[in-house]
Amino acid sequence: MLVFAVSDKGGTGRSVTSGNIVYRTALTGRDVCYLDFDFGSPTAGTVFQIEKLVSGLPGTGLHSYLQGRTQTPNCVDVWAESEGETLRRQPPGSGRLELFPGDRDGGEFPASEETVARCAELFLSLEEQYDVALVDLSAGRSYAVETALAATSAEQLRHVTVRWLVFHRWTHQHIRAAHDLVHGANGIIAAGKANYHDEGELRRSIRFVRTAVVQPNSPSLAGLRPEQVAWLENCNGSLQTLAGRLGLGRTSLLGTVPLEPLLQFREQLISDHDVRQRRTANQETVDAFASLAEKLHDERAWEAM
Ligand SMILES: Nc1ncnc2c1ncn2[C@@H]1O[C@H](COP(=O)(O)OP(=O)(O)O)[C@@H](O)[C@H]1O
Ligand SMILES: [Mg+2]
Repeated sequence: MLVFAVSDKGGTGRSVTSGNIVYRTALTGRDVCYLDFDFGSPTAGTVFQIEKLVSGLPGTGLHSYLQGRTQTPNCVDVWAESEGETLRRQPPGSGRLELFPGDRDGGEFPASEETVARCAELFLSLEEQYDVALVDLSAGRSYAVETALAATSAEQLRHVTVRWLVFHRWTHQHIRAAHDLVHGANGIIAAGKANYHDEGELRRSIRFVRTAVVQPNSPSLAGLRPEQVAWLENCNGSLQTLAGRLGLGRTSLLGTVPLEPLLQFREQLISDHDVRQRRTANQETVDAFASLAEKLHDERAWEAM
């Protein structure tokens, strides 16, 4: 399965949530890889806690591969290379967790016929080697999104299961932006059609993920004043209405990740150890990541809307 992570804006939680989704998927025993296609601002090294990759790889990453400077992109085993205390050892029963970083100082580059062909070849080979290959794409209607849409329309990838996750924060502005990224005049559906995708199939493969959502009645917000809770509930209602009207309501929603204080301060994977022993992260956050990971493989979550 190929999973594409997109968002209209930067800072939506796309990379951190995606990283945690692949981590949770690996913990269930599936083999997963994460591809850093955020060509302008690599973050995967930070999220997976691999210091030497914080600003990408010198030379042999995805930029080099897609632009034809190396035959195979470098792949890093997160269980072996991460400096994260609980990531360093592969838990028994878990699958492979591997990372394909971009190049240091790589930058954005347009989708040429050659990059698209190389990209399709890579996707096909990763789809065969892993249960899930998640591709974290640059924000907005970027070259990376264009490349992914063009590559997945290639004949040899037609049989592959493809999912699109659209990440957005829970505000009026973000809901509208996420809608436009998918349904706008120059959005993913329009661009997909221009790339010879079947419109119905493409629509069925897209789901939204709400990130960093304040849940007014969550136990972790027990200290809020009644006026604050009432205001939040009111606002939440108006956001629900807007989301429903723009086609981001219940049927197209894959899941919601609560606001997690730990992630406000650091981009990272959250382990069960962080929740149970250190008690620095909330169980609801990990449950949300695990649920998203599970739903990737739950056909009922991807039925026609
Ligand atoms: N559920 C959450 N609660 C609180 N902060 C979050 C949550 N998810 C992500 N963040 C934080 O939001 C910021 C942006 O996240 P990031 O994944 O880098 O966004 P993007 O990839 O969309 O640019 C990071 O500091 C991250 O740790
Ligand atoms: Mg990111």
